[in-house]
Amino acid sequence: MPHALVVEDDNNSLAALLALVEHEGFSTRSADSLGAACAILDEKPAPAVVLADLMLPDGSGLELVEAAAGVGAQVVLITGHASVETAVEALRRGATDYLTKPVDLARLKAILANVARTRELQAEIGSLRGELRKLGRFGPLVGASGAMGAVYDLIARVAPTDATVCIVGESGTGKEVVAQAVHELSRRRKEPFVPVNCGAVSPNLIESTLFGHEKGSFTGAERMHRGVFEQATGGTLFLDEVSEMPAELQVKLLRVLETGTVMRIGGEKAIAVDVRVIAATNRVPEQALQEGRLREDLWYRLNVFPIALPPLRERAGDIDVLAEHFLGELNAAGQTHKRWSGAARAALQRYPWPGNVRELKNLLHRAYILAEAEIGVECLPAEVVGGGSAAAPVDLARTIRCTPELGTMLAVQVGTSVADVEQRLILATLEACAGNKQKAAEVLGVSLKTIYNRLNAYRENRAA
Ligand SMILES: Nc1ncnc2c1ncn2[C@@H]1O[C@H](COP(=O)(O)OP(=O)(O)OP(=O)(O)O)[C@@H](O)[C@H]1O
Ligand SMILES: [Mg+2]
Repeated sequence: MPHALVVEDDNNSLAALLALVEHEGFSTRSADSLGAACAILDEKPAPAVVLADLMLPDGSGLELVEAAAGVGAQVVLITGHASVETAVEALRRGATDYLTKPVDLARLKAILANVARTRELQAEIGSLRGELRKLGRFGPLVGASGAMGAVYDLIARVAPTDATVCIVGESGTGKEVVAQAVHELSRRRKEPFVPVNCGAVSPNLIESTLFGHEKGSFTGAERMHRGVFEQATGGTLFLDEVSEMPAELQVKLLRVLETGTVMRIGGEKAIAVDVRVIAATNRVPEQALQEGRLREDLWYRLNVFPIALPPLRERAGDIDVLAEHFLGELNAAGQTHKRWSGAARAALQRYPWPGNVRELKNLLHRAYILAEAEIGVECLPAEVVGGGSAAAPVDLARTIRCTPELGTMLAVQVGTSVADVEQRLILATLEACAGNKQKAAEVLGVSLKTIYNRLNAYRENRAA
């Protein structure tokens, strides 16, 4: 029978927790302080799991994480609602998971059931980390830079837990690949990974997409539909571009995350969903919060375990590794043996990659098609070969997709904020499109909903 150590100074909570843990098949010991807990950790046999209150009379339950790791025990911290931030710190330091008070019985059961599995996963991830890092890979991710190494460490930490992960990074940095890596290294890997791009679903469909609907709940609802939360049950739901979601849905999403249940549109009963949520945004979250586009309470709930993906220009060591990797994939698929010329490789190193890994991947594909046996600089676009150096400025007209037939130019003073530039560009494009929002959205390469959201925000700002 595995042992559990419960550390809690409140007698009532302690008794309740002990009963629950024993019911799950653990033998228990208890301690009412940090000091007493440390003394028990020194005894044999060591507990498999330590459940510790965060606020103990002689310190923080966090301090047990290291001591417990030393004897191979996992730590689950129990926190009041207000201290979720500390729980996040605990996950970073190596705690297995955390529970908020009042303790949700189903969550506690799931965590205890996973104690053994989590230990296996952590061992597995540990060896994977050692082996693959040498090769510059981690699960589906490729990259050998220090910055990616730090990202691998965070993924390894958080994957075996059920904590909500929030991935922030510029477009094309690999946020979806990171989400997949977290899923693949979690106990949910055999269950579905369901990605939803919240910015790409039209506003009148998003609620049904997320939460589903009952038959006949609105005109056109001819059949019952299960939303992505139900589809992802047991697995992972990847909510991409969360900041693009309409405000009223952000409230509903928050409720689902807090209760672990969804209600289909037109439905009467709450359906329990066991889903791990990973969110992503390529906006600067602080700015989206400030502009009121992202609800603060939702952000707080999603940003439990943040992973920031650095842009490719800040991980120079990865360019070569990624270029080799993508070329290897293309060679394997096309049964060819093409290779890079030294000059082409050097040019790739100098370019700043505003479109990040996606741009690199697309550009390599094009170069591969153009090249015979060796991929030389002549297969690369001029702006890449120019390298963005002072002597050969980047030819922006070639890298930026634009619709010249619209004619109008927009002059922007260096030093203008990105938000301002965006607003002026959207308004000028709308004007050039004679107010046709659909056309403007296409020209700008954003969803129609984004246009509506921005216009609403501009109106509100003016009214304020
Ligand atoms: N580290 C990586 N290793 C291998 N492939 C990668 C890596 N990073 C990105 N890619 C590839 O680059 C492309 C873009 O990645 P991804 O879709 O994850 O970016 P993103 O950050 O989600 O972008 P967006 O914000 O535009 O949605 C994909 O084809 C992905 O497979
Ligand atoms: Mg993406």
